[in-house]
Amino acid sequence: MAATVVPDEPGQPPKLTQDALASRAPKQMAADQVVNPFEVSGGMDEAGKALAIDFDKIVRDFGATPMSPEILQRFERVTGKKPHRLMRRGMVSSHRDLDKMLDRYEKGEPFYLYTGRGPSSDSMHVGHAMPFELTRFLQEAFNCPLVIMLTDDEKFMHSEKLTIEDAKRFSVENAKDIIALGFDPKKTFIFSDFEFVSGAFYENICMIAKHITINQIKGTFGFDDSTNIGKFHFPATQSATAYATSFPHIFGHDKTKARQIPCLIPCAIDQDPYFRQCRDRAEKMKHKKPAILHMIFLPALQGPGSKMSASVSTSAIFLSDKPNEIKNKINKYAFSGGQDTAEKQKELGGRTAVDVPYQYLTFFLEDDDELARIKDDYEHGRMMTGEIKKICIQYVQEFVAQFQERRKKVDESVSADFFARKPLLFQGKTAEEVI
Ligand code: TYM
Ligand code: TRP
Repeated sequence: MAATVVPDEPGQPPKLTQDALASRAPKQMAADQVVNPFEVSGGMDEAGKALAIDFDKIVRDFGATPMSPEILQRFERVTGKKPHRLMRRGMVSSHRDLDKMLDRYEKGEPFYLYTGRGPSSDSMHVGHAMPFELTRFLQEAFNCPLVIMLTDDEKFMHSEKLTIEDAKRFSVENAKDIIALGFDPKKTFIFSDFEFVSGAFYENICMIAKHITINQIKGTFGFDDSTNIGKFHFPATQSATAYATSFPHIFGHDKTKARQIPCLIPCAIDQDPYFRQCRDRAEKMKHKKPAILHMIFLPALQGPGSKMSASVSTSAIFLSDKPNEIKNKINKYAFSGGQDTAEKQKELGGRTAVDVPYQYLTFFLEDDDELARIKDDYEHGRMMTGEIKKICIQYVQEFVAQFQERRKKVDESVSADFFARKPLLFQGKTAEEVI
């Protein structure tokens, strides 16, 4: 099969990816950039102006491996699937050990996918949907088990106001949203911490907790001496899901065998601190290190420098938004890289690197040729700001409408199937059959 990710020049990333990567490597770097699960900011320049998040700096500081055209081509060769647009266009910006997972896939050795959601509100935004969209695609491509964790305990520890009842209710509602993003119930297990922490899972949580000191957590997560101890403990819970021995109902009761099964974790880059902790300790605990795929954030409507965030309602498009709400938000708030007047736009063109409607199209528009045409027209002043906004609105509305259609069909009985404790198959076989 012909590779779809053809480099323009030997050894160079494909044009689209190269452009996408270049656009997120601002020249000026802030020393005070912060990226952890609880705070994401590009920092400020000397004049106090907010800077864009420097994703390359993150890759360097966190010691991950940047995605390359070679590994995407290998993905396509091994799975027979064209990489997802989020992979083709550099939104999956770096990884750890993806190559090892591809080796395993080639040899028919099992692994599973793991991702999650912290249920802090009853509606998710389209940014949250992106790692799940990637995970859905990977589940199909690898034909492997998937575990989705709902960290209602984390959100309870981190919120002033949220009650345990609220957090549990959000778990139930968010699970329906996640299911409606298109997962296969035969291959997916969803659980919430308040319901599932016990048995083998709790044993792993304690084992991990015993290996982590307060000092290590403080630095990585930005906690201090007045932080509640629940927050200090929680990273052990998020890490324990990366060990197959936590799920005897999926991978069998033989721990020696289950320890041989690693996972691959798709997430946005803010979650990396958890999994660095986990990888550092895995082998000491005789487990395989989890592999990771890092995604960049879907930007807030206000533009580069922040992530779309549920707590700032004008920054986000929610999966529950109506078509006209989507239209109004994009028209009113989406940061434009276009020029002030039509004359100037024709002369100078729009700046796609900072233009939110264009950035959103890179996430939502599947057709590579169509995207390239829009980019070219917009950058060369043949397309106006109003037009690119209109196209963007159309594709975001379409994504949300399709989601809402599927969401209507998810009731308690559909959910129950995903929460059921049952074995999940890897390429049609149980873990015991393949190890
Ligand atoms: P949470 O609920 O904060 O976020 C859920 C997932 O969405 C990603 N994300 C985004 N992706 C793209 N653009 C954005 N603007 C954006 N905002 C958030 C997050 O990185 C995450 O992948 N502690 C976790 C729950 C969790 C988890 C995991 C996530 C437990 N285990 C394993 C990923 C992988 C949380 O509160 O996620
Ligand atoms: N420009 C934004 C930043 O630097 C985000 C961004 C850059 C982006 N390139 C992108 C988003 C490509 C989507 C696709 O932070």
